Amino acid sequence: MRPKVTVVGSGNVGASCALRLADRGLADVVLVDVLDGIPQGKALDILQAGPVAGADVKVTGANDYEATANSDIVIFTAGFPRKPGMSRDDLLWANYDIVKATVEPAVKYSPNSILIVVTNPLDAMCHVAHAVSGFPRQRVIGMAGILDTARFRTFIAQELNVSVEDVTAVVLGGHGDTMVPLVRYTSVAGIPITDLMDAETIERLVKRTRGGGAEIVKYLKTGSAYYAPSAATIQMVEAILKDKKRVLPCSAHLEGEYGVNGLFVGVPVKLGAQGIEKIMEIKLTAEENEALQKSAAAVKELVDVMKPKLDEVKSAGSAG
Ligand code: 2OP
Repeated sequence: MRPKVTVVGSGNVGASCALRLADRGLADVVLVDVLDGIPQGKALDILQAGPVAGADVKVTGANDYEATANSDIVIFTAGFPRKPGMSRDDLLWANYDIVKATVEPAVKYSPNSILIVVTNPLDAMCHVAHAVSGFPRQRVIGMAGILDTARFRTFIAQELNVSVEDVTAVVLGGHGDTMVPLVRYTSVAGIPITDLMDAETIERLVKRTRGGGAEIVKYLKTGSAYYAPSAATIQMVEAILKDKKRVLPCSAHLEGEYGVNGLFVGVPVKLGAQGIEKIMEIKLTAEENEALQKSAAAVKELVDVMKPKLDEVKSAGSAG
């Protein structure tokens, strides 16, 4: 039997995820949204690309969660995107309500699923999904690190005029302005970038990576990126469905790793059939560690604001 993946939210990110999943024949896809007709119409359109793509998967759209029952993975993309000048954090309360309202029915119908959170502010929204679902940390994962790393890799490849495939990079921390591109672990076919570029160039590319999402928001004006975010999300889905044990940067609930306790922060994890199968710890320099702790503190600020609501959700869950 083919795996089943639900995509919550039929906006640009959700529809792009559904299209990538279907195009590659990775799973049957259910696209869910509250908007009448939109998930159904987009699903039908994607389905009709199947004969051309050579993919036999089922693609359906729905306004309720019954159709999503027994999904292996549920991807959460629903939420408001940024407008120019907004930070991801400005979306906190608007998207808190949406993530809570969508995780509840999704996990009711797919209690054994793995949740991938894409909605911003990413790391904070992972806390909402974790609290509402009551799932173990292995099954609640945030998409951000692959996207941030992909942006860094793109800029490095452009600068050196080399293939993106040969650029390896690691970006740690929250999906925000404080993210931590690890220059020491960034290389081109194994050659450290510090051997290939001067410090000023590296700093420029790091800065552009940190502002990579905002750069696109500024162009689009009415929304944020979706092609690269959906590509990153589907890489996670593929790693899980094919039990690839890929080591990819994702937002994970740290419980002591990297000296961080009880916070979702981007770190390299091993992704396989069980979800997060291992959190890979890297020995950081004092400077890198300081940057990571600063980034974790920025996530904590948002989580502290939500704490009374999250505690309420958790106690309702344990009472029920
Ligand atoms: C980005 O960085 C939308 O957060 C996403 O583009």
